[in-house]
Amino acid sequence: MQDTPASDLAALKAEIADAIAAAEDERALEVVRVAALGKKGSISARLKGLGAMSPEERKAAGQALNQLRDDVAEALEARRTALAETALEARLASETVDVTLPVRPERTGTVHPVTQVWQEIIAIFGDMGFSLAEGPHIESDWYNFGALNIPPEHPARQEHDTFYFNPRPGSDERLVLRTHTSPVQIRTMENTKPPIRIVAPGRTFRSDSDQTHTPMFHQLEALVIDETTHLGHLKGTVEAFVKTFFEVDDLKMRFRPSHFPFTEPSMEVDIGCSWEGGELKIGVGDDWLEILGSGMVHPNVIRAGGLDPDRYQGFAFGMGIDRIAMLKYGIPDLRAFFEADLRWLRHYGFSALAMPTLAEGLSL
Ligand code: DAH
Repeated sequence: MQDTPASDLAALKAEIADAIAAAEDERALEVVRVAALGKKGSISARLKGLGAMSPEERKAAGQALNQLRDDVAEALEARRTALAETALEARLASETVDVTLPVRPERTGTVHPVTQVWQEIIAIFGDMGFSLAEGPHIESDWYNFGALNIPPEHPARQEHDTFYFNPRPGSDERLVLRTHTSPVQIRTMENTKPPIRIVAPGRTFRSDSDQTHTPMFHQLEALVIDETTHLGHLKGTVEAFVKTFFEVDDLKMRFRPSHFPFTEPSMEVDIGCSWEGGELKIGVGDDWLEILGSGMVHPNVIRAGGLDPDRYQGFAFGMGIDRIAMLKYGIPDLRAFFEADLRWLRHYGFSALAMPTLAEGLSL
């Protein structure tokens, strides 16, 4: 490198300034920086040339070159900041979402049949004056069994295929995944003064799996407690629910004597149906379909809930939500409910915007 006259530096400075101004984004600007200040850049090359100069020359040229290097570095930084700001503004402008736009009809997300039926049930019982209640999925032995008049060694425990947790260190007590929603009866009585009128939909768990059983499933518990509630109220409530849910005016129902430890007397409820041509029709025909277990709440259960069974009485029932979803919407295999298969969800899912209400129709 020969000497570096001032005019040469001025030309170089102008050239670099033009390149900086012309750089349209940060990547282009980086190319300009490397060409000027990089190891083999134009300014770096001139700085290296200082070594071959006489001391006086070197002093003057060195100062001028250092100045140029600092000016260029500053100009690069200013441009970089400006480019970054412009890029951010462009991004913010292009990524704005107009929240007032209507939803995109080509999107096909759907509401799961269990959610749909859950909402339908709530709409129906809400209209009848019931409140919603809930309880934990992990229960103590007491709430899941003992308080429901199912003592240790009771055969009903075997029927429940219970998932048990390991006992806590230093304790014999094993928590369970609740096998039914009936523990919510106890929890509700403990913290509600009668009259009580609740439904409790929720997840339940049993170690069982086939076409009509999954280890996790959904139940709906209903509980009505006051001083005068009797079997007739149970019957009327179930009948009103089933007619509204299955959207039929005529309904044959039968109450079959049964046994549950937490009710006395206990009944299973069947509804009249027909399976003609492989298609299920509710409300016609000579076949029967079991839809729920029910009864008058056992005095021991009322006592376990902290209420006086000589003063209070009432009814309860428990129903499989998945099961009545399968019946109402003709879904053959329960396991498919929880496989998250997109084709299945598209086929059986419901419109996200059609909330079931009694006024507008349950299942549009
Ligand atoms: N908890 C019972 C079950 O899971 C269902 C049931 C039957 C609930 C009778 C009730 C009832 O409230 O009265 O099999």
